[in-house]
Amino acid sequence: MSGPNTDYDPVEVTPLKAEEVDAARDAALAAIAGAQDLEQLKQVRLEHAGDRSALALANREIGALPPQARKEAGQRIGQARGAVNKALAERQTVLEAEHEARILVEEAVDVTLPTDRRPAGARHPLTTGAELIADIFVGMGWEVAEGPVIEAEWLNFDALNLGPDHPARTMQDTFWTDPPEDHLVLRTHTSPVQARTMLTTTPPIYVVCPGRVFRTDEYDATHSPMFHQVEGLAIDEGITMGHLKGTLDHFAGAMFGEGITTRFRPSYFPFTEPSAEVDLTCFVCRGSGLKAGSSESCRTCRGEGWIEWGGCGIVNPRVLRACGVDSDRYTGFAFGMGIDRTLMFRHGLEDLRALFEGDVRFTTAFGSEL
Ligand code: DAH
Repeated sequence: MSGPNTDYDPVEVTPLKAEEVDAARDAALAAIAGAQDLEQLKQVRLEHAGDRSALALANREIGALPPQARKEAGQRIGQARGAVNKALAERQTVLEAEHEARILVEEAVDVTLPTDRRPAGARHPLTTGAELIADIFVGMGWEVAEGPVIEAEWLNFDALNLGPDHPARTMQDTFWTDPPEDHLVLRTHTSPVQARTMLTTTPPIYVVCPGRVFRTDEYDATHSPMFHQVEGLAIDEGITMGHLKGTLDHFAGAMFGEGITTRFRPSYFPFTEPSAEVDLTCFVCRGSGLKAGSSESCRTCRGEGWIEWGGCGIVNPRVLRACGVDSDRYTGFAFGMGIDRTLMFRHGLEDLRALFEGDVRFTTAFGSEL
């Protein structure tokens, strides 16, 4: 059952006179022509062609006319409504086309405009520096080895001939982890990676081990509680100090340029015997000991012509045996350098802290090394 026709309001019924119908049609056509956009046209449609528009109401009244008047009124109203609907459809097409054309212009992307691209980051000089060092050795057929920064006390010390009471343990101010019975340290050097490699690999062994190390040092221009080392280890039959010297000379030349070599000074490390400190030709005065163009001493090496670079030696047979290497058949050499220190030399940095403080104005200067 249909409900009451609530839309029907006899008071609003439009008279069906011909001029009223024509006037309603003309008002509708004028409003359609005047609609400036799709939103306005929607309103016009509601007002002039909707259920409560003059023409719709007139249409409803046709049935109430005497039969002889119905035909003419029906025709007139039908034509008027037809004209209005046609005008609406045409205006709709025009306005839609205009709308699309406007969107094309307004939302066009100018691909020639400069972009606001963020500057590309550069990899940290320590990362690229460590890679450069590794590449020099990979170029000689060596491999790269890594180990954990939280290390077993045994690997950091004992395996390297640094027993619990060895006085040299105090040379390396160690961070111990809790609880002490775990016997774990933040590794004080990269040398435990030597021990790890010998324990897991059969000679010949040729490895470089770059990595982070920790010591309870005050933070200043030349010290940091966290810094970086690169360790080298070669184990083979018949390895001599001569191989060590040749390898480090090549490393120095590749890192600092032709004419830069090394010299050895006798020293002591528990894991090597004999041991030596490695000095590098001063890269500022290139060994002359003099300030450029003057008779004054070079400031960097204080007139020495050499600067301290690291430690090295022939691997102590006790270390070979502790790490399962046949010390009758094999000998080896090892060395260790500070990467941070090496980069300070290479780039003329005066303050080690620049490498750790994350200031992009510093690190992007190394962007070209990407
Ligand atoms: N591990 C030593 C240190 O941190 C450096 C070092 C010296 C490493 C001699 C070696 C070496 O492999 O043979 O002071």
